[in-house]
Amino acid sequence: MSLDKDKVPQHIAIIMDGNGRWAKQQGEDRIFGHHEGVNSVREIVEAAAEVGVKYLTLYAFSTENWNRPKEEVDALMELLVATISMETPQLNKNGVKLEAIGNLKSLPQGCYDELQQSIEITKNNTRLTLVLALSYSSKWEIIEAVKQLATEVKEGKTAIDAIDENSIAQHLCTKKYPDPELMIRTSGEHRISNFLLWQLAYAEFYFTDTLWPDFRKKEFFDAIKSYQSRERRFGKTSEQIKNEIK
Ligand code: FPP
Repeated sequence: MSLDKDKVPQHIAIIMDGNGRWAKQQGEDRIFGHHEGVNSVREIVEAAAEVGVKYLTLYAFSTENWNRPKEEVDALMELLVATISMETPQLNKNGVKLEAIGNLKSLPQGCYDELQQSIEITKNNTRLTLVLALSYSSKWEIIEAVKQLATEVKEGKTAIDAIDENSIAQHLCTKKYPDPELMIRTSGEHRISNFLLWQLAYAEFYFTDTLWPDFRKKEFFDAIKSYQSRERRFGKTSEQIKNEIK
């Protein structure tokens, strides 16, 4: 089966997992795996732009990842800063706009500044929006949204009865993006680990045993092909969907 360029998901979200195990298999330390993982990030961003994906959200660092050993957290932050500053010219060249979601204020100042600079430099690009989830967790995001809505209600700016799916979505960090149609997780884990819990309500999930550093263009296209072979019913029956297509 070949990839149908007319049926590519607009938004793909990825949990990049398995860097540590990949490194261990090579007899190296975990940080080596994260470095190799950057090569996969580069290739997948290019592949996504090539087939016309409009939004690519990568889970680069979760709120829970702060609990990893300090050396690993420090190395990951350094790697993020180095990667962002090194890749910005290439992102620009490829028409990629960089954005970020999460508790960005909790990032080390240098990382935060580098990120904001790259966001500013790439802000006029329109081919693909690359969203990095950094210090992100979905429960954190939902709590923030509830707090904001509660404040608006208290201040008389929002009526309780006016709270609906749309108003909640408009208070999440992802308010500017359509919900992902496809969520990919590498490394054989079958969990969503506090990632986009609200936004993935109707997404197709694709799990692969491939570890993130080995997840490259071919594997990415395989995931899109798998998505294209599925029937998305949104709670309806198969017959209803077939009649809608006719
Ligand atoms: C999961 O592997 C990976 C991470 C927590 C970090 C992902 C970071 C990168 C790929 C590098 C930087 C990214 C960007 C966007 C520049 P793991 O450590 O959980 O692996 P394991 O499950 O085998 O231990």
